[in-house]
Amino acid sequence: MSDARALARAYLEQQRLMGGNAVVLAGDPTSSPPPSAAHPPTPPDPEPRASDRDVTAFEPPPPGLSFDPPAGDLFSSDPIQQAADLQVIDRLVAACTKCRLCESRTHTVPGEGPADARLVVVGEGPGRTEDATGRPFVGQAGELLTKILAAIELPREQVFICNVVKCRPPENRAPQYDEIAACAPYLFRQLELLAPKVILAMGGTAAQALLDTKQALGALRNKLHRFRGIPLIVTYHPAALLRNPNWKRPTWDDVRIARRLLDR
Ligand code: URA
Ligand code: SF4
Repeated sequence: MSDARALARAYLEQQRLMGGNAVVLAGDPTSSPPPSAAHPPTPPDPEPRASDRDVTAFEPPPPGLSFDPPAGDLFSSDPIQQAADLQVIDRLVAACTKCRLCESRTHTVPGEGPADARLVVVGEGPGRTEDATGRPFVGQAGELLTKILAAIELPREQVFICNVVKCRPPENRAPQYDEIAACAPYLFRQLELLAPKVILAMGGTAAQALLDTKQALGALRNKLHRFRGIPLIVTYHPAALLRNPNWKRPTWDDVRIARRLLDR
């Protein structure tokens, strides 16, 4: 098979994954130009939207919330604030008993990825597979996340992936307010150490914890928020996409905005 055909096939698979309309190629698929790395593929859409424009013409969404929690302080005696690198955070999390979620966990799931990652993805909390392995987003939702990242040409290995709470809530219930409050300092310190170019908050729990708000996900999407000055985009949680495929299209729009912010 020619390269052009392979590219066309990969492109159509991306469209299908992200909820694009069915495409029927008339004639030879090799005659249409393949998507190039410089211009990420856009879904087939008769109505051009702002997000479909060229990278050079990219206009970010309107400004949203900005949250600036106090930064680590040299004179603090709090070991989280003093953590010098991500491995120290991992060790503190492994020994943590700050909330009731420590009682039912098998493994803590602090997050993983390179210390120089330009994108950080934040989910809600570990599920069953994550609790069993100690790794974030490795179950069904994780597989979808890996595909979403691949669709914006980001190998998962280049992204730091973590959660708001580092221990699995029993029966995958949503983390409670006091559990989030107890665990958030780990996430905040991780973000401070990572200093990524863009943060992608997946789902309401991540968005609300990172922006210190109770606003619903729908009101937070499609705005350019900031966490300690770092651009932050809100989108649906991959587990929600598995339940509601109609949200794939807006998620595709959101992650393309994140991609373009990374490319700026
Ligand atoms: N859902 C999450 O929010 N995080 C994971 O790590 C896995 C599933
Ligand atoms: Fe500690 Fe967070 Fe686990 Fe609670 S969820 S025990 S705060 S690491």
